[in-house]
Amino acid sequence: MIQPDIFNKDFSVNYSGKTYRAIRHDVVRKRQATYSDTAHHPDEKIMQIKDVLGEICGWGDLSILELFAGQGNLTKIYAEYGEVIANEYKGEVYDKLTENVKDCALVHCNKVDSYLDFHQLIALKQTFDVIDLDPYGFPNRFFPDVFLLIEKGVMFVTMPKPYVNILNGITATHLISYYGEQNPSEQTIVERIVLWGLCHWRKVELISSIDCKSIWRFAFNVEKVKATDYTGVRNR
Ligand SMILES: C[S@@+](CC[C@H](N)C(=O)[O-])C[C@H]1O[C@@H](n2cnc3c(N)ncnc32)[C@H](O)[C@@H]1O
Repeated sequence: MIQPDIFNKDFSVNYSGKTYRAIRHDVVRKRQATYSDTAHHPDEKIMQIKDVLGEICGWGDLSILELFAGQGNLTKIYAEYGEVIANEYKGEVYDKLTENVKDCALVHCNKVDSYLDFHQLIALKQTFDVIDLDPYGFPNRFFPDVFLLIEKGVMFVTMPKPYVNILNGITATHLISYYGEQNPSEQTIVERIVLWGLCHWRKVELISSIDCKSIWRFAFNVEKVKATDYTGVRNR
């Protein structure tokens, strides 16, 4: 049998008829489907959460919104810092989440589609101290309005690196529509998220960025500002 040429790291097609990137994409999808730690990087994410929340927020009384909780790797950690709303859409993953956090009194699990639910939370005028956005794909569709859910606190965002993804026409168009280019750099992405904060008068500052192979995991400090103070312009 002809083996796929996985060392052929350019875009050319190998003996299996797939590019190196396409093969790697299949491997990542399989790891996600089996909920492998190599797809989720829980240790790196947990270390970052502890670093950031330990320093900035203190313990115990935070309100936390986790929009993509999965089986609860991070939910259990967040539960040490306060009350957690943990959203997970997929049935069997949700069942594992509820089992894994059954001893955490301050965790409320919701089996909802977060892309819709966050609009509902905005309509209810809810706000949180911490928001965690950890989807498998790009989180762009949450911006800028997710900032309405936070007035002062921290937002953790998982961002796939565009240049390690397979840029088909749909992904390319999606990235162009959000970032103005199909292959935005880390800096461009961070600058755009900071600007999206200002759409709702949130001053947004990157306080931590970790590199986890095919994704970045960002932590942003978010603070609501008065438009007049921020711009130095007086309303007449
Ligand atoms: C990257 S994983 C989350 C990993 C988790 N934060 C952790 O560190 O263990 C993304 C999760 O989002 C769930 N998901 C996918 N679409 C969703 C949606 N529309 N609403 C809520 N959850 C969704 C997936 O089933 C998956 O468990």
